[in-house]
Amino acid sequence: MQYTVTVLPGDGIGPDIIREAVQVVERVGRKFGHHFTFEERLIGGVAYDQTGEPLPQSTLNSALHSDAVLLGAVGGPKWDGLKGEERPEAALLGIRKALNLFANIRPAKIYRSLRDACPLRPDIIGEDGLDIVVIRELTGGIYFGPRKREIRDGVEMAYDTMLYNENEIRRIAHVAFQSARKRNHLVTNVDKANVLEVSRLWRKVVMEVAKEYPDVTLNHLYVDNAAMQLVRDPKQFDVIVTGNCFGDILSDEASQITGSIGMLPSASMGEGALGMFEPIHGSAPDIAGQDKANPIATILSAAMMFTYSFGKLEEAACIEKAVDEVLEAGYRTADIWSEGCTLVGTRQMGQLICERIEAI
Ligand code: NAD
Ligand code: IPM
Ligand code: MN
Repeated sequence: MQYTVTVLPGDGIGPDIIREAVQVVERVGRKFGHHFTFEERLIGGVAYDQTGEPLPQSTLNSALHSDAVLLGAVGGPKWDGLKGEERPEAALLGIRKALNLFANIRPAKIYRSLRDACPLRPDIIGEDGLDIVVIRELTGGIYFGPRKREIRDGVEMAYDTMLYNENEIRRIAHVAFQSARKRNHLVTNVDKANVLEVSRLWRKVVMEVAKEYPDVTLNHLYVDNAAMQLVRDPKQFDVIVTGNCFGDILSDEASQITGSIGMLPSASMGEGALGMFEPIHGSAPDIAGQDKANPIATILSAAMMFTYSFGKLEEAACIEKAVDEVLEAGYRTADIWSEGCTLVGTRQMGQLICERIEAI
């Protein structure tokens, strides 16, 4: 097959990790007989520096005409003083919205060989490890509601509004229930329905959708309790469905249970096959350009691209197996390193995974 992929390295460690993911995609292409055209475009702080805007039209056009988008990360202290709409982060929200990528799928899985990197007691994780997925609504909620900053009666004030309509809730609920059908048939809805009106609507709609999935069990947790339960007993979860802001926070929390935020991939999907694939972590300015970043989250995001945008499950499985084997062989970047393991940098980790792909 022939695929066009828009590649958006972005800022900080973005270029470091994307370089490795692109090599992995190329290697998989060679193995399985696919040809990739990579269109590299600007996004985030680097785009602002070069063009005056964080999300140039040429980037959006390329994404809209591609089969998939692979993104590194955006943002950094250099751009923190910019106005809201000029910030690198605004570009990320903008591209998600423009491509209507309302469903952000964030799997959190503990690799057998990374048990030592998990900060929870071994008896909490148990023999079977951990395998949960956070289904985060991505184009609504407090990230996109009306906002304002103003001076009222001489006092500076600001607000953001958490806003959802029933259609936005319904479609993400369907994604969650369908995902649960392919997994352990359990959905935990996370909201703040004891306080927020928007959460009461959210919960009502999720319960309505649940009736179409009688084979799936639905539980509800308030977000504060959910954050606690994730470290108390993460094995109680299968699929977590939640809004944009709560999903952002809970998925970072879940990532650390797997050993590092450098391990967690994501897929952002809309109604069709076009998706954007990015690690859940940020641009990690503290380690940018030092060959220290863990590229696995981005490489696993590329695997999700094969599954979700291309429908190529064998290719995705090949990448996941290669990652697993390299970890089993004891290679670790600094974020997941423990005694007795071999410390490697970003490039070597990428290289090792490419070699395994060829050998599998
Ligand atoms: P971050 O995820 O960038 O970093 C948090 C911590 O995790 C840091 O110590 C970092 O070194 C570490 N880390 C992250 N990714 C890693 C990897 N692959 N390997 C090893 N260690 C890794 O979060 P932050 O520091 O809050 O944000 C930094 C910048 O990134 C901010 O400008 C923020 O807005 C932006 N950000 C962007 C995205 C994105 O582009 N999707 C996501 C989150 C944050
Ligand atoms: C993420 C990030 C983004 C988000 C920011 C950088 C806009 O934290 O992808 O998780 O909050 O969605
Ligand atoms: Mn985040």
